[in-house]
Amino acid sequence: MPAPSLTRQAVEALDAEDELAFLREEFALPQGVVYLDGNSLGALPRAAAARVRDVVEREWGESLIRSWNRHGWIDLPARVAALLAPLVGAAADEVAVADSTSVNLFKLLAGGLRLRPGRKLILSEEENFPTDLYVAQGLSALLDGVSLRLVPRAGLAEALDESVAVLMLTHVDFRTGALHDMPEWTRAAHRAGALVLWDLAHSAGALPVDLAGCEADLAVGCGYKYLNGGPGAPAFAFDPRYRPAAGIARLLCGTPPILSLAALECGVQTISRAGVARLRRKSLALTDLFGRLVEQECPGASLALASPREAERRGSQVALRHPEGYAIVQALIARGVIADFRTPDVLRFGFAPAYLRFTDVWDAVAALRAVMERREWERPEHTARAKVT
Ligand SMILES: Cc1ncc(COP(=O)(O)O)c(C=O)c1O
Repeated sequence: MPAPSLTRQAVEALDAEDELAFLREEFALPQGVVYLDGNSLGALPRAAAARVRDVVEREWGESLIRSWNRHGWIDLPARVAALLAPLVGAAADEVAVADSTSVNLFKLLAGGLRLRPGRKLILSEEENFPTDLYVAQGLSALLDGVSLRLVPRAGLAEALDESVAVLMLTHVDFRTGALHDMPEWTRAAHRAGALVLWDLAHSAGALPVDLAGCEADLAVGCGYKYLNGGPGAPAFAFDPRYRPAAGIARLLCGTPPILSLAALECGVQTISRAGVARLRRKSLALTDLFGRLVEQECPGASLALASPREAERRGSQVALRHPEGYAIVQALIARGVIADFRTPDVLRFGFAPAYLRFTDVWDAVAALRAVMERREWERPEHTARAKVT
């Protein structure tokens, strides 16, 4: 008997029963749009919009460098890795969240080749994602004797012999959506004495992946597709052979970090309006003022100048030395003057000329004077070492 034809009403009932229906509300999807490209760029989670705004305005804007500790920036890659690990069947300490898929692929391929000394071949399929192949081609050109062999999918089994160091495959074919049998190909690679490197760009967050269960060696994945981590799409032709772009653009590797770049663009535009000559003039005036004020306000405080006195030999910072440098900097931070410390004894004061006022220099030295006179560095809360100063 033929299946009854589906009606809109029947489909609406599917929505009504959908156990994931509650999730849709968590995404900011435009009205009137049916978005069927989440495999290329995932939609914006509402929480992400608020979170990025908070990171920019409150954390970066107000806490400045203190955010590394105060807002846990230093642990962020590890926190995201721990969240991600179960989605791909790995332990938290086996996952690193960093760079782009292409850069990570390069790192893992290079590492994989070193783990198979004596073998010089990367094996992959002609249908693999183009930039993965570019990366392998580029690495082969860098390493003596290493080469990339490309075969059609149907020829993979035969080509997988004891000359192969790394079998590099994409789990879900980016064109057809066809899935490789991950446990089977991993076993086949191991039987041949090779490592396997999986590209999970179109798998992570969309389908179960059990890297540990199938004893996979290496894998890379993508944060901006089914994991909805933010913008980015390859900005080059899908051609299986790498043809470098003209000029410096050939150094671009994979999808650029759009959110960070958007912020950088604003910063560079602002600085450009000031002009470097004016910036340098003010910078020297600020650092000179700081040096003179420290001498004037903190005599006998054992703060030795570690920066060149001659203006033309000085950058835009002034370093002082003191054996209790770390705690002095902490005491200054507690007073709202944020400088930093570098081992073994350097107090580092940076003077960004675009937004510092001369009165800021005055206030900083006044705080330094108070810290030194009252020996505030001896307070236990200032001597305890944090991860980042
Ligand atoms: C399967 C696959 N591998 C690798 C990449 C490259 O990622 P990226 O450009 O972020 O390095 C993509 C990007 O779309 C992809 O779909």
